[in-house]
Amino acid sequence: MSFRLRFFMIGAMTLMSEVQGQRRRCSEEISDIRKEISSLGAMQDDLLHALTDLRLGIESAVTVAAGSLPEDCSVAKKRGAWGPFQMIAPPGIGPRMVRCDMLTDGGGWTVALWREPVMKTAGFGERDGPSGDTLHRDSPRVSSYPTRSVKHDLSARPPAEKDPQRPSRNDILPDERHPAGDAGDEETWYRRRRLRRSSQGSSRELLRESFNRTWVEYKDGFGHHTGEYWIGNDVLHALTSASAEPWEALILLNDFRGQNATAAYGQFRVSDEGSGYRLMAAQYDDKRSTAGDGLAFHHRRSFSTYDRDNDEYHGSHCGLDYGAGWWFHQCHVSLLTGAGTSDAQRGTEGPHTLHWRNWKGEEALHSAALLIRPKNQL
Ligand SMILES: *[C@@H]1O[C@H](CO)[C@@H](O)[C@H](O)[C@H]1NC(C)=O
Ligand SMILES: *[C@@H]1O[C@H](CO)[C@@H](O)[C@H](O)[C@H]1NC(C)=O
Repeated sequence: MSFRLRFFMIGAMTLMSEVQGQRRRCSEEISDIRKEISSLGAMQDDLLHALTDLRLGIESAVTVAAGSLPEDCSVAKKRGAWGPFQMIAPPGIGPRMVRCDMLTDGGGWTVALWREPVMKTAGFGERDGPSGDTLHRDSPRVSSYPTRSVKHDLSARPPAEKDPQRPSRNDILPDERHPAGDAGDEETWYRRRRLRRSSQGSSRELLRESFNRTWVEYKDGFGHHTGEYWIGNDVLHALTSASAEPWEALILLNDFRGQNATAAYGQFRVSDEGSGYRLMAAQYDDKRSTAGDGLAFHHRRSFSTYDRDNDEYHGSHCGLDYGAGWWFHQCHVSLLTGAGTSDAQRGTEGPHTLHWRNWKGEEALHSAALLIRPKNQL
């Protein structure tokens, strides 16, 4: 063998053993990587388990928190709450914010229905869909709680009515001698607001929630707890039928002239969805009421909306005809979900408006509330 060949063979053998060594190292590394991958998989499983535990933990915490929430405003009051807005958890229903009346007639009332116009302000003019989120929450009328709640909206009397000679605040025109930007007093504020609104071409306008809603919307509730709202038929049923304990109702009404009236019922109950959310409004209390029994006609009637006809007017569909959800019969005497009218339309009349026939005929009312509470809670 020549020296050169021997040298080549040694070289080749060295190379081969090196290649084998590298291959061994490679396969070792591959197996290491495999091990790491499988341990990563185990870690992923652990992570998934941990996440599942966390989720279950959060869910049970929420359940416990909901369990510790008051079922209604009367329970909230017993626990010392006094504010107008409370988070409640009606039996079998998720937590939700509602308005409470903690003052009228002993308080502890859960507000099932709230109707009250909210003044439209600059920047909120683009609203067209009904959404409480666009309502101006700091409206003087709404924020004057608790006084206004005791008197149910006496403050809602339009300024013009106090003195017909004096222009209403909404009519105050820009005063040349006091250009906007001087004193930060109330009149200036109103004047600025008036200016902004007139530049938008939408003066004297008041926002009202639409109550021409579907069956499902009335079932779940709609609107916003700081503005006009319907608490939800499922909530009405859950609250008023949770125990054998009877519930009572108090209806508060205000017209556009600042007059008020009430209707008190010793018994108020709403059945479940399967039986059409039938209304039980009995024991009208003559001594505590001034508005007349506008619910007698609706006692034992099922609920109807424009998309669900449960009324007793064959060949007609009250919910669709009047654009409201209510315990229609043939069709109605009172309609607290009727169309809300704005200040500019004062004096509007008609069976489609928010009205209480026993008190003011078909005259559109300014505001209304339906309050409910367990009867023997005091
Ligand atoms: C209703 O108005 C009368 C005066 O017309 C007033 O004395 C009374 O306090 C008002 N009641 C409520 C609940 O607002
Ligand atoms: C209520 O809404 C429905 C559906 O949008 C509509 O068909 C109906 O005309 C409305 N009713 C009124 C009185 O506005």
